[in-house]
Amino acid sequence: MQGTETKPFDIAWVREQFPSLKLQVNGQTAAFLDGPAGTQVPKQVTDAIQNYFLRANANTCGAFETSRRNDMMIASARAAMADFFNCVPDEVVFGQNMTTITFALARAIGRELKPGDEIVVTTLDHDANVAPWRALEEKGAVIRPVDILEEDCTLDMEDLKRKITAKTKLVALGYASNMVGTINPIAEITKLAHAAGALMFVDAVHFAPHGLIDVKELDCDFLVCSPYKFFGPHMGTLYGKREHLLRFKPYKVRPAPETLPDRWETGTQVQELIAGIAAAVDYLAELGRRCDSGVKGRREALRAAYRATHRHEMELFVRLVQELQETRGVRIFGITDPQRFEERCSTLSFRLGNHNPTEIATFLGERGIFTWDGNFYALNLSERLEVEQKGGVLRVGLVHYNTAGEVDRLLAALREFAAR
Ligand SMILES: Cc1ncc(COP(=O)(O)O)c(C=O)c1O
Repeated sequence: MQGTETKPFDIAWVREQFPSLKLQVNGQTAAFLDGPAGTQVPKQVTDAIQNYFLRANANTCGAFETSRRNDMMIASARAAMADFFNCVPDEVVFGQNMTTITFALARAIGRELKPGDEIVVTTLDHDANVAPWRALEEKGAVIRPVDILEEDCTLDMEDLKRKITAKTKLVALGYASNMVGTINPIAEITKLAHAAGALMFVDAVHFAPHGLIDVKELDCDFLVCSPYKFFGPHMGTLYGKREHLLRFKPYKVRPAPETLPDRWETGTQVQELIAGIAAAVDYLAELGRRCDSGVKGRREALRAAYRATHRHEMELFVRLVQELQETRGVRIFGITDPQRFEERCSTLSFRLGNHNPTEIATFLGERGIFTWDGNFYALNLSERLEVEQKGGVLRVGLVHYNTAGEVDRLLAALREFAAR
């Protein structure tokens, strides 16, 4: 049973947990609106990494104390990520980052493809969910890209339905766009993929800081996310359905175990960062318990955390979009109708007149406001929206540690920029 929310979102407590939010730049407190490329980490994460080095720094499976502690730490981090995904621990695979994991998985899946087998990708996706599948063209696979509806940067579902056929072996889809924030209807598309006999692979990197992932509900076959985008360290984590992790053959060294999930974790992992991943999940759970004292268990606490952070992010986001829409020369990409904000997350990309986004990001950066400019590796989308040759877009990402004051500072600085 879900708990009932009892307390308002305690932004002061949240910000206290993130020591780096106090950083000063040119006399201003930094406003971290750069979350889509990597969030800040709470002190629980840095403590866990330090603690690992002080108490558990050894390789795995040794017959001595620090190695045993390391093994226990990895098991508990896997259990934390299993709660995060809503799966069982041996369906959780740690790896270097989403891109590297996806290339490795694609290569393993590619062993079973025949020439003419098709893979569906999309124009909305980060290239890390396109290039690894395109690499299988070398084996004769045919890549079928799905287009978008330009007016609101959502997937063209009619095109998607046309592209998924009896020849489709895998559909590779992003949960949320890291450029325009669109959230895709994953569960619905998984049904279409499965009905055609295809596997469903989900890139949840951009969704993970904004919403609770539930691989059971989605029924996807694989899902990858990167803890450094949800308040943890720079690593990647894969969920794979047990049957697939057992059936597909990874490229691995012979002495490494064939058991799950070890057969997919090639070489020595960055174990200190795995300790940090567990701490990031536990930080979110702690936040959830503070928002709702009635929750039982970590998964429920995570649900409570995301319920609260989503509300907070969206309050800020509504204000940001409204004000920007009233600013002359601003062109926003993606959904702007507040009635449809459940279809998107709080990541906004726009252009301001003909200004190069790098110029705007530099101006903001000098005022301690951190945003991103460019294509963020969503190359197909940047080309489709015809901004690739013009420096891309300016991207503002709001996460739960951001404040209304930071949004106001951004808006004021943009007005100052435009009035120069
Ligand atoms: C949506 C999305 N997918 C994939 C990636 C690649 O993730 P990683 O850096 O872990 O390889 C990113 C990184 O920006 C991303 O935003």
